[in-house]
Amino acid sequence: MREVEVRVGGLDAVDADVAALVLPGDPDLPEPAARADGWLNGALSRRIREEGFKGEAGETCLFPTAGDRPHVLAVGPGDGESDDRLSPAERLRRAAGVAVRTAREERAASLAFLPDPDLAREAGDHGARASAEGLVLGDWALESFLGEEARSERPSPPSRAALVWPGEPEAADRLTSAAARGRAVAEAQNAARELVAGPPNVVTPRHLARTAGEVAEEHDLSVEAWGPDRLREEGFGALLAVARGSRQEPRFIVLEHDGGRPDDRPYVVAGKGVTFDSGGISLKPPKGMEDMKFDMGGAAAVIGALQAVADLDLPRRVVGLIPAAENLPSGTALKPSDVVRGVSGTSIEVVNTDAEGRLLLSDTLSWARRELDPVAAVDLATLTGGCVVALGHEATGLMANDDALAERVREAGERTGEFTWRLPLWPPYREALDSDIADIKNSAGSEASAITAGWFLREFVGDDLPWVHLDIAGTAWTEETRPYHREGPTGVGVRLVVEWLRSEE
Ligand code: BES
Ligand code: MN
Ligand code: ZN
Repeated sequence: MREVEVRVGGLDAVDADVAALVLPGDPDLPEPAARADGWLNGALSRRIREEGFKGEAGETCLFPTAGDRPHVLAVGPGDGESDDRLSPAERLRRAAGVAVRTAREERAASLAFLPDPDLAREAGDHGARASAEGLVLGDWALESFLGEEARSERPSPPSRAALVWPGEPEAADRLTSAAARGRAVAEAQNAARELVAGPPNVVTPRHLARTAGEVAEEHDLSVEAWGPDRLREEGFGALLAVARGSRQEPRFIVLEHDGGRPDDRPYVVAGKGVTFDSGGISLKPPKGMEDMKFDMGGAAAVIGALQAVADLDLPRRVVGLIPAAENLPSGTALKPSDVVRGVSGTSIEVVNTDAEGRLLLSDTLSWARRELDPVAAVDLATLTGGCVVALGHEATGLMANDDALAERVREAGERTGEFTWRLPLWPPYREALDSDIADIKNSAGSEASAITAGWFLREFVGDDLPWVHLDIAGTAWTEETRPYHREGPTGVGVRLVVEWLRSEE
């Protein structure tokens, strides 16, 4: 989406092919729907009375108009009660996503989005930000790997979108900047999705480093990417161990936004960057192995979050860390029962080479703790199938060593519509990682595997650094089309991390 313009007003302010009206299914129409009903000679209220449009979440109904007037698209916001997680802003985000996808199918060149006035009032400025996010996110589709012909046959997205908001003219500036922030974050999230969707022969650790470099250049971040030599010097034995089975060199990427005061301690955001996870010698079964290109979803979220943090110029020091490697079996690969040591010096018995993400992150978190002395750290990782078993695709698993930080991160996700659910890191779960020959083993098998993976990471974080682990294995990809997500990568975590950082004191 090239721009999201904001206009304060009603239907008269619409200059677009399609006017999308968020409409609860009440035949007693408020403005601007009453006006649209007039254009349509009462067809809109009639349809509602005859229960042809109930205003349910995601429901749409298109009313073509004659002449120069825009077509009217009614979009249901849902009642807001049947699912009480959904804030007014999230309901608008979803309606905007549905509106833009429908407008694309109708081959509209431009779209105006008009919220129901009650919902707009309840949501406030958050509503304008969320609506802009919905428009930009709903617009995304992966096309870069299609041939020219296939691409040209697809309906292209509306090239212009406007939010037409009720209220006083004085509100325009505030709403415009809220929408601009929403657009910046959503564009960053789309960039993350693009990376996750990319095939693993293209999106290698070196490619992640190159992309981070380009993002840094364009958005004014500083960046470093270390290869094997530097990693050996710094003692990243666990990351190097995972990378050993592949011809692709690993990278450790450090992205930094320096928006704070000179001596500020940083906030750290780390993301698992396994560009393909075959399982290694503990090889995964063929069925579904192709899904494992998404195993760098945490890394993509970190790149996206740093891009947005820079665009919004948040007044904080933020360091993004990405350990990137490919997990393959070969004659040089890590073997089950190998013992490795990483940055912390802790010896790790690798009983399962498929539990590789935690190895990469253990080095990353130990290094961050030692070298950066962060205020707090959050990691994002497609870490366990067990998290998908536990929570499905509705919530990200959240684990933490600090209740207050856990709560702030959870609340940030609530505000952005990225829901999390906390899992307990109780001491007995730790015992399952006891090794007979080393300090810890890297897998405790399938029972409570999301939690034992979280415990493994905690071992390297310690108790002093407030830390949250987000297991995004179930939320980084969707198999079904959702209001502002098509089937494919979701870019989960970008909005959440930006909102968390924005709201930290
Ligand atoms: N990347 C996977 C986690 C995963 C698996 C995400 C399936 C989504 C769907 C991770 O590296 C992994 O393989 N985890 C193992 C851990 C086990 C060996 C303890 C898992 O979850 O099976
Ligand atoms: Mn694995
Ligand atoms: Zn993995």
